[in-house]
Amino acid sequence: MLRKLYYFLPPVARFWVRRLVYLPLDIFESLSGKRNPMVPPRGLIFTGSGDFEKQGQKMIRHLKDSTDLLPSHKILDIGSGIGRMAVALTGFLNSEGSYEGFDVVKKGVKWCQKNISSRYPNFQFQYIDLDNDLYKSSGASAEQFTFPYQEDQFDRILVISVFTHMLPKEVHQYLKEIYRVLQPGGQCLATFFILNNDSEALMEKNKHFHFPHDHGHYSLMSDRVKSANVAFEEDYLFSIVKEANLEIKHFFPGHWCGRNPKDCKDFQDILIFIKGS
Ligand SMILES: C[S@@+](CC[C@H](N)C(=O)[O-])C[C@H]1O[C@@H](n2cnc3c(N)ncnc32)[C@H](O)[C@@H]1O
Repeated sequence: MLRKLYYFLPPVARFWVRRLVYLPLDIFESLSGKRNPMVPPRGLIFTGSGDFEKQGQKMIRHLKDSTDLLPSHKILDIGSGIGRMAVALTGFLNSEGSYEGFDVVKKGVKWCQKNISSRYPNFQFQYIDLDNDLYKSSGASAEQFTFPYQEDQFDRILVISVFTHMLPKEVHQYLKEIYRVLQPGGQCLATFFILNNDSEALMEKNKHFHFPHDHGHYSLMSDRVKSANVAFEEDYLFSIVKEANLEIKHFFPGHWCGRNPKDCKDFQDILIFIKGS
């Protein structure tokens, strides 16, 4: 109910609701010096709830464990938000390593440039004006977007909770771009909501997080705000991954649909892709 009400608001109003709700706590934390300066005030974190630092560290641990991440690697973070993954990586990458992030929300990119790049010059962020009806009201289509990087440029790519807010043609284009900018042998960790017999049966029992709007090979949580949450049919998703020439190295199902959290690495499903050498 609350979620529906929230989606009813235009993106700019959603931003201000969050800012106002957290304002007293943000003022308190700022005055008392309790907030790590690399962590944004809560009211500015438009990328989801939970502990900002712990969640970033947890995902970077998965990246290390499942892809042999090295401190010297060149990393691309697609949908870098307000720096959750970047902050966690600042403690890991060395001066040979580098981080590039891009996002469609200008406020997030500016915050990262001011608070992260100023301290870690090998961490760079770009704003790209693309449309996404969850986060903004205008911008170019992501369906034709070419990443502003050269081919074979990155060792590892992160796409955390981004394809869960993008439509099929956009995701298809991004997978092709991931292949282009990844080095041969490079790997990508991306999260999804994947619909298959198992997740659909579990969702039937746990109606609190579900996708009632069926569009064939994908389903939406809200038809009003299409990018609010997007789930993909497994066969369709795996077919576009294959078309992009990427191989699936691991599939770690998440607990979003009602699986036991103890059996899962994360709330969302995690796929690790590899670009064959
Ligand atoms: C739930 S947030 C996750 C942010 C970040 N990856 C993290 O884990 O903290 C989703 C992010 O995807 C970004 N986004 C949405 N559409 C995008 C697109 N077409 N290209 C790049 N980023 C996009 C949003 O602006 C938002 O920052």
